[in-house]
Amino acid sequence: MLVVGARGHAIEILQCLPQFAAGNLYFFDDVTPDLEPLLFGQFPVLRSLDQVPALFQQDPAFVLGLGGGRLRQQLADKFRALGGQLQSVVASSAQIGQHGVVLGEGLNVMHHTFVANATRLGEGTLLNAGAAVHHNVTVGSYCEISPGARLLGGCRLGDMVMVGANATVLPRLTIEAGAKIGAGAVVIHDVPAGATVVGVPGRVVRRPVATE
Ligand SMILES: CC(C)(COP(=O)(O)OP(=O)(O)OC[C@H]1O[C@@H](n2cnc3c(N)ncnc32)[C@H](O)[C@@H]1OP(=O)(O)O)[C@@H](O)C(=O)NCCC(=O)NCCS
Repeated sequence: MLVVGARGHAIEILQCLPQFAAGNLYFFDDVTPDLEPLLFGQFPVLRSLDQVPALFQQDPAFVLGLGGGRLRQQLADKFRALGGQLQSVVASSAQIGQHGVVLGEGLNVMHHTFVANATRLGEGTLLNAGAAVHHNVTVGSYCEISPGARLLGGCRLGDMVMVGANATVLPRLTIEAGAKIGAGAVVIHDVPAGATVVGVPGRVVRRPVATE
């Protein structure tokens, strides 16, 4: 198994993969200078894309080990093109409903998360530690739900939405694609595509610049 990333989020992903050990778990980082060749003295860090196809011939499984929806999608596409098969990471302490839950590929469902019955998580979404997705919530692809954030019943998130740490989205709201919710915000109204909302109650502080 290859973890794409070797810092911050990747070292938390390692805590969700206790079944892997040195010898069957690798990390990848071709951008950070001065990384040790072995993460925690055990796990090899590949430093070039040229090294990846040979590894994928032995084991094509890879997981995303970094944050940021756009980057996660780009790297999922890049490593699939090299022959990899995108897998999900689901921590042992994650509480996932048994009924009506639809999970996309390539998720990161971190420790102490809650995913209720009758929910959907789109491809590549990151549900970080302690986050909660309540009943009838739909989350799009490549969203990032930060630690301790709560999506209350029936709310809907488009693709590439970022919800900051400990933010709350009230029931039945719609957060459109590419919106950002600040850490600690309480969102009380629908959020348009690409907008940034902060504070309690949540206020739009930034709207996307019109492209025409
Ligand atoms: C909301 C957020 C995305 C905005 O980032 P940004 O686009 O770079 O915006 P800025 O930092 O320029 O902030 C814009 C304004 O919102 C305010 N603001 C930013 N984040 C805020 C927050 N979480 N709560 C309240 N106000 C906030 C800033 O003070 C600034 O106000 P001003 O214009 O009056 O000076 C970012 O601040 C944030 O909260 N990110 C979440 C981080 C997180 O939870 N990460 C989890 C990692 S695991």
